[in-house]
Amino acid sequence: MSNPFYITTPIYYVNARPHLGHAYTTIVADVVGRFNRMLDREVFFLTGTDEHGDKIVRAAKKENLSPRVYADEISELFRQLWPQLNIDYSAFIRTTDPAHIAVVKQVLQKIYDAGDIYFSEYEGLYCFGCERFYVERELVDGKCPDHETPPEIIKESNYFFRMSRYQDWLIEYIEANQDFIRPERYRNEVLSFLKEPLEDLCISRPKSRLEWGISLPFDDNYVTYVWFDALLNYVSALGYPEGPLFKKFWPQVQHIVAKDILKPHGIYWPIMLKAAGIPIFQHLNVHGYWNVDHSKMSKSLGNVIEPLELKNVYGLDAFRYFLMREMVFGLDSGFSESALVGRINADLANDLGNLFSRVTAMAHKYFKGIVPAPDPHGDPLLTQGLRSDAAVAIREFETGMSGFMFHKALMAVWEFIGQMNKYIDVTAPWVLAKSKSTSKQLETVIYNLLEGLRIISGLIFPIMPETAASMQRHLGQDPGKTFCSMSFLSQWGGLVSGTVIPKSVPLFPRIDVSKKENETAEEALPAPDRPVFKPEISLEEFKKVDLRVGRIIRAEAVPKAKKLLKLEVDLGENRTIVAGIAGSYSPENLVGKQVIVLANLQPAKLMGILSQGMLLAAVNDNRCTVATLDGDVKPGTALS
Ligand code: MSP
Repeated sequence: MSNPFYITTPIYYVNARPHLGHAYTTIVADVVGRFNRMLDREVFFLTGTDEHGDKIVRAAKKENLSPRVYADEISELFRQLWPQLNIDYSAFIRTTDPAHIAVVKQVLQKIYDAGDIYFSEYEGLYCFGCERFYVERELVDGKCPDHETPPEIIKESNYFFRMSRYQDWLIEYIEANQDFIRPERYRNEVLSFLKEPLEDLCISRPKSRLEWGISLPFDDNYVTYVWFDALLNYVSALGYPEGPLFKKFWPQVQHIVAKDILKPHGIYWPIMLKAAGIPIFQHLNVHGYWNVDHSKMSKSLGNVIEPLELKNVYGLDAFRYFLMREMVFGLDSGFSESALVGRINADLANDLGNLFSRVTAMAHKYFKGIVPAPDPHGDPLLTQGLRSDAAVAIREFETGMSGFMFHKALMAVWEFIGQMNKYIDVTAPWVLAKSKSTSKQLETVIYNLLEGLRIISGLIFPIMPETAASMQRHLGQDPGKTFCSMSFLSQWGGLVSGTVIPKSVPLFPRIDVSKKENETAEEALPAPDRPVFKPEISLEEFKKVDLRVGRIIRAEAVPKAKKLLKLEVDLGENRTIVAGIAGSYSPENLVGKQVIVLANLQPAKLMGILSQGMLLAAVNDNRCTVATLDGDVKPGTALS
């Protein structure tokens, strides 16, 4: 396998237990890793823990433990958590690993020898929480913007990294590489920071003040500043400089961090690499914050969300889906259990779960659970629409996933789920099943639906691996890599006729909101059926849609199709349109009605009648309300 791909999370401080924020970043990395495996790329996925520095010493002291014992304990919590969230990582690095320590020393020496590290006395404002010096203009009301405590004045001799020398280079680099830092708002943030002169970075701490760190190779009285140590994990884990992993995977790397650590990753890290003569990483992907009750999660506010608790109550895949669907990568998001329940009921139980059980139940009812063969001589229109819907979903899914717009990728899949449900309503397999003359059509329809499920199961794999595997097993497949590869998914017809499919189980049971309310004294839960909006389109794309005012001049029932009506509609020219509105309108009430028609929809044959357009209507609880206009308009007039 070629085409290497390297993905990293931040290495987490071992001063606190893992929470929702850590889980989110790590799940994103897992999703991206799995997606790239689907593209047949060789993936290396790194996570780990950041264990040196003041912060850890203070946290250990509180627990009456040595920093080493304390770091061992908390690091283990992270390491044990990830498999429980189905995180498929390749390596877990600790900054206390001897191999990492050796690399940090080697790089420091290299930069020192090149003359980019110098010794100087410095008096400055130091925040112990951030473990760094601040300049006056960075403070808010004289306080550290992160910790909201006044920094202390410290005077000491230290080693400095000549970052200022690389300021112009970095600006040019970011400007020349459009999506080096993405989304754009964070790129702009870094560029605007670089408008001010860049201070040299203090990269040492005297051992008299801090011993828990990596000694400077050129002065044993000092340890390395924790960020200089931590950032190098991304190369030390690959065995920099000569290791085969480093040679294979660097610099094809996607770093993922939240906005809190934009500056070290967007400024210090590229400059460190440049100074050390190491190629620059490919992308820095920056996401926003999960807030709870409009505030940052914190122990003191008592609003820290434990990922395992959510997994245990709602199931792992539902939790992973929620995080990926709810947050727009790059923006902040509010976490609430009610929003999670809303998504489970609407997207997972209603949309995906119902579609899956509907289709597999029909396959059992009409074909005893054996995948039928589509009719090669049948009407191609019976397949074309769904097939092209699938192709669009796959394309938009790939674009969303590659661009870290996971919510859009998922919206594309859910759009297709909606189209599958509609396909069932329009083709009405229960009607086709009533007559021998339509048995071939029934075989094609059920085959197409099962094939659609195969595609959906593959597309959800990176986000919900267990559900994907369960769907695949219930489609008679052996879940595995090949079944989820994008190239296999993109070929319509991958499901083999004759395959036996086992009886299915509900994928996602609905959560009874009232019961949950009693169990957890949570605030009132909103109605769970929240709208799922379709992926964004451009005005240009919308302009391709030809909407016209029409007037119904004739309407009649379609024999053997309970839901369908055959309409004659005046659009300036007469068109025949078959509409699934018989459950809500009787033909005589429609004649003379002004309607809105999608006039450039590819014609499709329904119950043997060629339908040349589609009526716009709102569907709610199985009732249709046809869209009309506020006033009399000449038939054929375009809407825009
Ligand atoms: N040790 C440094 C990172 C060094 S990387 C070379 C560090 N550790 S941390 O434990 O504080 O982790 C910060 C990261 O945890 C964030 O960048 C983000 O990935 C994740 N999150 C922590 N809280 C979060 C939220 N409330 N919301 C989203 N993610 C957040 O910084």
